[in-house]
Amino acid sequence: MTQLFKSVKVGAYELDHGVVLAPMTRLRTLQPGDIPSPMMADFYGQRASQGGLVVIEAASVSAQARSYLGAASIYHDGQDAGWKAIADAVHAKGGRAFLQLIHGGRQSHEDVADGAQPIAPSVVPFEGVALTKDGFVPASPHRAVGIDEIPGLIEDFRQAAVRAKKAGFDGVELHGANGYLVDQFIQDGTNRRTDEYGGPVENRVRFLREALEALISVFGADRVGVRISPSGEWGGVTDSDTQATFTHVAKVLDSYKIAYLHVIEPRVKGDDTLHAGQGVVVTSWLRPHFSGPIIAAGGFDRQGAIAIVERGDADLVAFGRHFSSNPDLPYRLAHNLPLTPYVRAAFWGGDETHYSDFPTYAEREAATEAV
Ligand SMILES: Cc1cc2nc3c(=O)[nH]c(=O)nc-3n(C[C@H](O)[C@H](O)[C@H](O)COP(=O)(O)O)c2cc1C
Repeated sequence: MTQLFKSVKVGAYELDHGVVLAPMTRLRTLQPGDIPSPMMADFYGQRASQGGLVVIEAASVSAQARSYLGAASIYHDGQDAGWKAIADAVHAKGGRAFLQLIHGGRQSHEDVADGAQPIAPSVVPFEGVALTKDGFVPASPHRAVGIDEIPGLIEDFRQAAVRAKKAGFDGVELHGANGYLVDQFIQDGTNRRTDEYGGPVENRVRFLREALEALISVFGADRVGVRISPSGEWGGVTDSDTQATFTHVAKVLDSYKIAYLHVIEPRVKGDDTLHAGQGVVVTSWLRPHFSGPIIAAGGFDRQGAIAIVERGDADLVAFGRHFSSNPDLPYRLAHNLPLTPYVRAAFWGGDETHYSDFPTYAEREAATEAV
């Protein structure tokens, strides 16, 4: 058996295999209040496996942190029971669940953020979108966040982690990828600040460090992961020296001895393949700079996942779209079984259809035999 299907230590946990569920926002919370729904607990329970890691979709750390109507958030008491049901569903299958925590920054709109104007490190023209009751609309104009507001933002991350821990999650993942607030601070195309949060990369990672330290204060470093997307195009972020910036980020994260570094390959842009056929790029150049486990993500198939782990550039591989339509993906990959194609039309909102109704391979076979 290849390394991908063997046990691997990730922070505080000894996993049974390295096939990870990538975080996927599916816009299926109950409104109002972004209440995690029973079908979400079904979805995650189905994708949990003995000793497998699932990363739960991005949860906004405050009302103002939101980007998409129907997406998850974790900041008020009414959500606690729903989150606990999700953690419980994963644990019932013997899996481990990390909840991804996000602040959308400029990828937002006042209609989805309780009337608050979106914030960013600096004001830089942005053509991205947010999702409101009127559908996908241009993000509303953002403002530069005041330095005196930053402690409050960090405290929102800490409180979200406290709730995640209370709900029973095994850890949290800081969303530092895809052009959301943490990424907006890291990259110099979106961070033009002249105070201690801007300028040289040592300053631009200050927000990342403070948010990370807040999460670590709740869970401990061995139960916190960080996701990054060097050269990623989602969210319109750019950097004048991507490799230097993210090498520094990897070294900084290494110094915290966090549970894992989660890296998205730039061949995907958010939820879609941008450069089909492009090989692994960023995970390979980050590898020498981070000594803990690396989870690679973005455009992997079975062969590519086996290869990157054999090569040692990554220790685990996260799957998004394939996992959406194959609840037993770790089993199918381990046994080289065919995959059910994913259904893009059901990605962003809807009911159980093409969400929590995909059969496992065994269920599919049983149904075929019964006909
Ligand atoms: C519907 C959908 C929602 C997504 N939501 C998130 C998210 O909440 N957080 C995140 O970091 N990435 C998100 N992504 C990106 C995935 O985690 C993953 O990086 C991407 O799908 C590429 O992996 P794949 O080629 O295995 O699908 C999303 C992707 C899809 C398809």
